[in-house]
Amino acid sequence: MSKITMTSSGLRVPESVTVPFITGDGIGKEIMPVSQLVVDAAVAQAYKGNRSVEWLELQAGEEAFRKCGSYMPAETLYALNDYHVGLKGPLMTPAGRGVRSLNVTLRQALDLYVCQRPIRFFYGVTSPVKYPERIDVCVFRENTEDIYAGIEWPFGSEAAQKFSRFLHEDLQETKVRFPETSAYGVKPVSKEGTERLVRNAIQYAIDHHKRNVTLVHNGNIMKYTEGAFCNWAFELAEREFNFYLSSGQIAVTAITCDAFFQRAILRPEEFDVIATLNLNGDYISDVFAAQAGGVGMAPSGNINYETGHGIFEVTHGVASDIAGRGIANPSSLILSAAMMLEFMGWKEAAALIVTAMERTLRQGISTADIAESVKNGRCVGTREFADTVIQMMNPGF
Ligand code: NAI
Repeated sequence: MSKITMTSSGLRVPESVTVPFITGDGIGKEIMPVSQLVVDAAVAQAYKGNRSVEWLELQAGEEAFRKCGSYMPAETLYALNDYHVGLKGPLMTPAGRGVRSLNVTLRQALDLYVCQRPIRFFYGVTSPVKYPERIDVCVFRENTEDIYAGIEWPFGSEAAQKFSRFLHEDLQETKVRFPETSAYGVKPVSKEGTERLVRNAIQYAIDHHKRNVTLVHNGNIMKYTEGAFCNWAFELAEREFNFYLSSGQIAVTAITCDAFFQRAILRPEEFDVIATLNLNGDYISDVFAAQAGGVGMAPSGNINYETGHGIFEVTHGVASDIAGRGIANPSSLILSAAMMLEFMGWKEAAALIVTAMERTLRQGISTADIAESVKNGRCVGTREFADTVIQMMNPGF
């Protein structure tokens, strides 16, 4: 098996590479195999048989729980760490209080500090806005800090009471209205965490010939966390990207969240790359995705650019209501796989997939979630959609 390794000059990807994958729950069983076929076809065509992917299945989710009593077995985490890059279907968050989301577990275990979501419009997809073709943005959401770090205590717990006393007695903090009945959460935002995210966002903009990086924040209210995020980001940009800023190749600007959400809908073309904190990023990704055809179309990568780890995954959930019917839209996973190939440096194969997706959707061929609202569209199942994407890679199309 040929593993991807990280060297001082970046990822080293063998010509015949082993890529681990997690099928996922629900519709994962339908969309994963067809997405792998699309990847295999793109790699074969782009490199004329000189490169290939060998898929290595890892256990996680409900099936893993049935087989080995754990939703996220240690071997799976070990393999993802060892092989660096992986593809992942949706995982059901186990029901029950206190069980952590498997996706959050993965991100934290591998310190995947960037949640990267490129969102663009494909002709043939229905959008609720007038000019969806103006949306072409890549969101860099910080993935490990902020109020989403998972540091919180339920109301009435010993920890919440202790925290309340600490606030009141040690810090003389009197702004908590109802201290006895409050639950508490902590919002850590660090200089290092901010810098590594913003560095990657600016570098991405430069590498992809984008004009601007926008910092979205609520620093006017949360001065020492979101305000500091903004200040640290500007300082980093001045220090490390001064040449690009002063030559006008790239502009780094900031906007507060409330103003941003208006503009994201009214003038989305103003945004190329967004760098933002965890909670803001969660909402922002969806406000763009909704305009571009919904989460069924949006890909994502959870990445640590410093260690070279990247897990590429769907943005939607397990869609239990349609699982097993062969009608799920595999686009989010197919596009996530294209992101994965690009991350590996196999840009030609990634481009083939994106172009084939454009051709397929432009011809009105799509799965039920999209086809229902497309005039004269042709509704196909999951497998037929993927087969069509593969056919559209043919230079004859
Ligand atoms: P969901 O995304 O599974 O479903 C919402 C609606 O969108 C459903 O009507 C579903 O049929 C539809 N839908 C979603 N993906 C689709 C696709 N590819 N093609 C066609 N229709 C699609 O969201 P829900 O119901 O909130 O979450 C269900 C479970 O999934 C939960 O346990 C949740 O934790 C998990 N989840 C996992 C994610 C991941 O692993 N990346 C992300 C989001 C949720």
